[in-house]
Amino acid sequence: MLDRPSWAPKHIDLDKPSSARIYNYLLGGACNAASDRAVARELLAITPEIRDMARVNRAFLRRVVPFLVHSGVRQFLDIGSGIPNVGNVHDVAQQLDPECRVVYVDNDPIAIAHSELLIQGNERAGTVTADFRDPDSILRSPTVTGLLDFDEPVAILLILMLHYVSDSDGPGRLLAHYRDALPSGSYIALTHPTRVDFEGFDKVFSIAQSTVDDITVRSYDEIVALTDGFELVEPGVVFVPQWRPESPLDVGEYPEKSIVYGAVARKT
Ligand SMILES: C[S@@+](CC[C@H](N)C(=O)[O-])C[C@H]1O[C@@H](n2cnc3c(N)ncnc32)[C@H](O)[C@@H]1O
Repeated sequence: MLDRPSWAPKHIDLDKPSSARIYNYLLGGACNAASDRAVARELLAITPEIRDMARVNRAFLRRVVPFLVHSGVRQFLDIGSGIPNVGNVHDVAQQLDPECRVVYVDNDPIAIAHSELLIQGNERAGTVTADFRDPDSILRSPTVTGLLDFDEPVAILLILMLHYVSDSDGPGRLLAHYRDALPSGSYIALTHPTRVDFEGFDKVFSIAQSTVDDITVRSYDEIVALTDGFELVEPGVVFVPQWRPESPLDVGEYPEKSIVYGAVARKT
């Protein structure tokens, strides 16, 4: 593993852990630095299940994309897309229909540099380095306006991202801004950590808080409220392993151990 990869922009301080790279480490990826691995190992020492949390979250994404394609969506705006891993949105969507168009957005330039490498030569995929909290920088970016047609349904994917948006940022107001830009028949899909009663939970979140970014854990009701103005698709807001599992193995014995709720909702 390289701690100063050639593609890592010089101004990026690899000594400062990044949520994208810690997550990449938890998923078994190679795009992480010593600082990221130190935090990840600290978290794993408290709760080895955190690796499963990352895995079942990705599995949710891999089930949601086909659901959306089968529901008529051909355009995806993946905000907080992270460092690519197995089953990226364009891989899954374009396998089902090569016409699908996908834009990856992240505020971490390293995550975007990796996505860029992956989509090279793919005319129906693009990237934008931007922040969810500045919707116009995303919705009006030339990549988004060039690839996505907002007269046709678009799915906005917010997978393990909204917990980096604090209450003072106004997540409801921001989501309303995105919702207003979407035609009916569009969707949002989100996953979001919640507080569950297991040993080590508080420690895990205080480590994540103090070393990486501010994290806001939200309750079931708060997560339901994030889908305001959309209609929740069955089974509603559930722990990610419980969202339309393909086999009992997807659900496992204790789905709440995933600590992450998932939901898909439609703009009517
Ligand atoms: C835990 S990773 C999830 C990656 C991917 N969505 C997945 O589930 O596999 C969170 C990602 O959100 C990005 N992120 C955090 N806050 C963001 C913001 N305000 N705007 C855009 N991206 C953000 C991070 O850089 C990171 O890549």
